[in-house]
Amino acid sequence: MSITETVPDTLAPNLPEPMFRLLGVSRTYRQKGREIRALQPTDLEIGAGEFVAIQGPTGGGKSTLLQLLGALDRPTTGQIHLAGAEIAGASSRRLTEIRAHEIGFVFQGFNLIPTLTALENVEMALEPQPLPAPERTRRAREALEHVGLADRADHLPSELSGGQQQRVAIARAIVSSPRVLLADEPTGNLDEGMRDEILDLLQRLHAEGLTLVVVTHDSAVARRATRRLRLQDGVVRDTTH
Ligand SMILES: Nc1ncnc2c1ncn2[C@@H]1O[C@H](COP(=O)(O)OP(=O)(O)OP(=O)(O)O)[C@@H](O)[C@H]1O
Ligand SMILES: [Mg+2]
Repeated sequence: MSITETVPDTLAPNLPEPMFRLLGVSRTYRQKGREIRALQPTDLEIGAGEFVAIQGPTGGGKSTLLQLLGALDRPTTGQIHLAGAEIAGASSRRLTEIRAHEIGFVFQGFNLIPTLTALENVEMALEPQPLPAPERTRRAREALEHVGLADRADHLPSELSGGQQQRVAIARAIVSSPRVLLADEPTGNLDEGMRDEILDLLQRLHAEGLTLVVVTHDSAVARRATRRLRLQDGVVRDTTH
């Protein structure tokens, strides 16, 4: 029994679960008999509503950590709690559900489907949910509106600028109302003007209460974050102050 359960409700201290709690989380890749320790055993908490930037040299383990947070991969050791629920040992089916409902992912290369319109790309993210088609379309339109692209719904990715494509990818990531948005170098393929467009959008989503974890080489992105972590040789350090 936890301490909070022994205290009457009215006296219970306000101890919200962090969004992420990592305990002894490590990841070792095995390749052709060789072991690569991409993430050393790590304890880390990320609170709900934080905007965390992860920086560090290439090969430092940033994408590895992000994929673990996003239930795209499992740690070699340790536990990962997402809003209080352990996910490292969850079934593959549960991990698929978590990715569909609780996590939004944005990548450097946008990863849009070239033959689908902006609207259809966003609708795709709602496929796993048992929604009637008109409701799916309504929500996808709303998400596009949210990123300022209502008037580009029928454009193919090739008919959009890089910044607009990334905004479609962000709409796709938030359309299922996830708890967390994870982004791996979201501005890496963009010029400065488009980068600022995406930065403003990320900052607005954070202001609306979304928890953000953004891997970035870009110090302009990191400056907007409320917390900065550095990952080097698989070791996480807090460099906020
Ligand atoms: N699937 C894999 N199999 C084997 N080794 C891997 C795999 N993925 C990553 N690695 C290795 O793990 C280490 C960490 O890689 P990771 O992709 O997390 O780095 P990163 O910090 O994201 O780098 P970058 O800034 O270049 O994207 C590297 O040494 C990499 O070669
Ligand atoms: Mg990477």
